Amino acid sequence: MPLPKAELHLHIEGTLEPELAFALAARNGVGLPYADTDELREAYRFEDLQSFLNLYYELMAVLRTERDFGDLADAYLARAAAQGVRHAEIFFDPQAHIARGVAMGTVVEGLWRALGRSEQTHGVSTQLIMCFLRDESAESAMETLEAAKPYLDRIVGVGLDSAEVGHPPVKFREVYEAAAGLGLRRVAHAGEEGPPSYIVEALDVLGVERVDHGLRCMEDEALVERLVRERVPLTLCPLSNVRLRAVDALADHPLPAMLDAGLLCTVNSDDPAYFGGYAGDNFDAVRSTLGLSEERLRELARNSFLASFLEHDEERRARYLAEVEAYEFG
Ligand code: HPA
Ligand code: ZN
Repeated sequence: MPLPKAELHLHIEGTLEPELAFALAARNGVGLPYADTDELREAYRFEDLQSFLNLYYELMAVLRTERDFGDLADAYLARAAAQGVRHAEIFFDPQAHIARGVAMGTVVEGLWRALGRSEQTHGVSTQLIMCFLRDESAESAMETLEAAKPYLDRIVGVGLDSAEVGHPPVKFREVYEAAAGLGLRRVAHAGEEGPPSYIVEALDVLGVERVDHGLRCMEDEALVERLVRERVPLTLCPLSNVRLRAVDALADHPLPAMLDAGLLCTVNSDDPAYFGGYAGDNFDAVRSTLGLSEERLRELARNSFLASFLEHDEERRARYLAEVEAYEFG
């Protein structure tokens, strides 16, 4: 039995496995510029975040109907459940779909086909976090928030993703203020490729409660002290960091140093179809390559539930935390 955990950094579009991409392409009559799944997998060699994002956006062309989004989420939830995920807070990128003529309602209702019954079908509780694309304009983000208003009972919060450098958090001050006014929780990617100052800005200007990645905080001692003091969770994605070359090799990942510093770290999968593994695979990789002890792994699992947006159901959080404490490593 795998260690129970929450997944807090997962882009649903990044769970599109090559086999499903081809199946959806056939179903929807969409052409893909790859002969087969092997040739597509060959393209999974990334230089940096942008080179990944190019393929990530390209493959989204196969996602067209509610059924497609439901199938995508069901496939993810089945894999996540098999790797011990008990609760998943799932990002989606509506602007990338709306730009292709796929409406907000198609995306949210489609995902909901799977999420709405995920506890029964997969034993996984879920929440949705709507991300703004930071390389699009602030006006576009505000229009996206407006388009989401009919679906806010299905969306717990907002996030910020896509190409980081050159798109500082401050660009999205107004839309984050508006989101807070609507009662939405706030997170943002910061410090993946961007500088530590973006993490500070995400906290001070956007009022985020969690930082996605946040890896580069380690370059700023005062920031690390603050993140420790304020117990700000960081949603780290070790295999993603290797594939997108944020670190040279997994053995060089700062996770052990971050835990030693007292940071509230969690381990997540980001875009598992592209980066070589789901949540449990990321745990296994840091265990074997970084030599994390069982107590460190338990701490990471505990942190994932402590950092999750379960304030509406503290009983559930307590239940998950009890599962973590009772877990016996094999
Ligand atoms: N970083 C930024 N944006 C993203 C990512 C990521 O790893 N995955 C999908 N959108
Ligand atoms: Zn991400």
